[in-house]
Amino acid sequence: MANNLTISKMTLQDLYSIQNILGSDFDDFWTFSIFETELKNENSTFLIAKINQEIVGFVGIWQVLDVIHITNIVTKKSKRNLGIASSLLESAINLSIKKRASSITLEVNSNNLPAIHLYKKFNFDELGIRKKYYNGCDDAIIMTRFFNT
Ligand SMILES: CC(C)(COP(=O)(O)OP(=O)(O)OC[C@H]1O[C@@H](n2cnc3c(N)ncnc32)[C@H](O)[C@@H]1OP(=O)(O)O)[C@@H](O)C(=O)NCCC(=O)NCCS
Repeated sequence: MANNLTISKMTLQDLYSIQNILGSDFDDFWTFSIFETELKNENSTFLIAKINQEIVGFVGIWQVLDVIHITNIVTKKSKRNLGIASSLLESAINLSIKKRASSITLEVNSNNLPAIHLYKKFNFDELGIRKKYYNGCDDAIIMTRFFNT
């Protein structure tokens, strides 16, 4: 587990500070403008992980009624396998429970073994498959954890 890891809500200032390294150092899944729009959306919350002052990962969630959707979870490439995504996911789960959600759900590429391992570790179950969901090619697995409400 990474030392000095803190989790907090992402601000626009946090996002601007990683604007130029989002694709290269994190993941090119979303463009900066999508992040900016998401951060301004009141149904959306982003949590960031920091080691000292360095942003090393983030997770985004959306709340729709009593269901929480994980929109994105990424660890900085140079900091993977240190438990950062595990800490972020644990915080997202705790926040979901606080928001009285009945479940937390997401879609993951069936080839993304690190992410699938992470979700299984936190007791997400595979609920279904969306065939050829990514680029008309890779399948998406729908993974969900239900809470006892
Ligand atoms: C998926 C991702 C978020 C994991 O982040 P991370 O900070 O490295 O995860 P952690 O260090 O908390 O590891 C979580 C678990 O996954 C395991 N894991 C990590 N990399 C793995 C790999 N390549 N293969 C199998 N398991 C792996 C770890 O061993 C750990 O399990 P353990 O605690 O039982 O040992 C990271 O790889 C990433 O940012 N990927 C690109 C973005 C992405 O695909 N996001 C998911 C979108 S659905």
